[in-house]
Amino acid sequence: MVDQKHDGDGAGGGRATVARIYDYLLGGKQNFPADREAARQLLQVVPDAANVALSNRLFLRRVVRVLAEAGITQFLDLGSGIPTQGNVHEIAQAINPATRVLYVDIDPVAVVASNEILMGSPGCRAIEGDFTRPTQIVGALDDSDLATVIDLDQPTALLYCSVLQQVPDEQIDAVIAPIRDRLAPGSAMVISHLSTTVTEAYGATGVAKAKNVYRTQAATEIIPRTSDQLAALFGDLTLLPPGLVSLTHWRAELSEPDPYAIAGTSSPMLGGVATR
Ligand SMILES: C[S@@+](CC[C@H](N)C(=O)[O-])C[C@H]1O[C@@H](n2cnc3c(N)ncnc32)[C@H](O)[C@@H]1O
Repeated sequence: MVDQKHDGDGAGGGRATVARIYDYLLGGKQNFPADREAARQLLQVVPDAANVALSNRLFLRRVVRVLAEAGITQFLDLGSGIPTQGNVHEIAQAINPATRVLYVDIDPVAVVASNEILMGSPGCRAIEGDFTRPTQIVGALDDSDLATVIDLDQPTALLYCSVLQQVPDEQIDAVIAPIRDRLAPGSAMVISHLSTTVTEAYGATGVAKAKNVYRTQAATEIIPRTSDQLAALFGDLTLLPPGLVSLTHWRAELSEPDPYAIAGTSSPMLGGVATR
């Protein structure tokens, strides 16, 4: 994937990052002037960008609830982002307090903020890591004290929410397969992803402009994918009903309606949950 340049000194003088642009869109405070400027440019071409982010978070909360209620007690959240309202451990531990969550993100701001809110949550951790290096993540889980958080021999929920659209086609199978194929029986894999329907929503020019904002402001390529491309990423796992659908329509009855449902439209992101 394209290397992201981070604001290593935390002083706010560096380049925007996807994590902090997303935080800003969700109304968070863990962002700097470069992130706010990137978000401002994005909102000029995609006026509902904040709704895309909110709809994704509502989907994530519904998914975690469904999986926790199904008995999964381990969540591996790759590209977990900066904490917001209704984080994975909060939703899952409300159902089963013994649930363990490992948050992994490449952005140090996300990792520090996650560990701060995890102080009262034994069994949960946040680490800096690159999910495009899956063998390193599997190796860390197998060989370190992280195995007390995620034991891959036990049913695990693997979350790829709004992250895989940053991985180029030529890498995506190699990024996903080592962890997906390691999942034990009873595990689940979750994907939410920008779909090619964005072109219908914003036009080819709008999409090109939005991609250009991420490329120039955050050194990140955004790659929308079709439903067939996304279905293939689940490998031999079986999609749960309702399948791979607009996030707006995935078990919508389980949360407040997202902004698209209220407007009678659909999020341009697709999501699905598959189990082994
Ligand atoms: C749009 S946010 C999504 C956050 C969260 N998953 C959600 O759905 O609310 C994308 C996140 O992926 C992280 N990310 C991007 N590339 C990554 C990589 N190679 N390894 C780990 N995290 C990555 C970013 O730092 C950012 O926090």
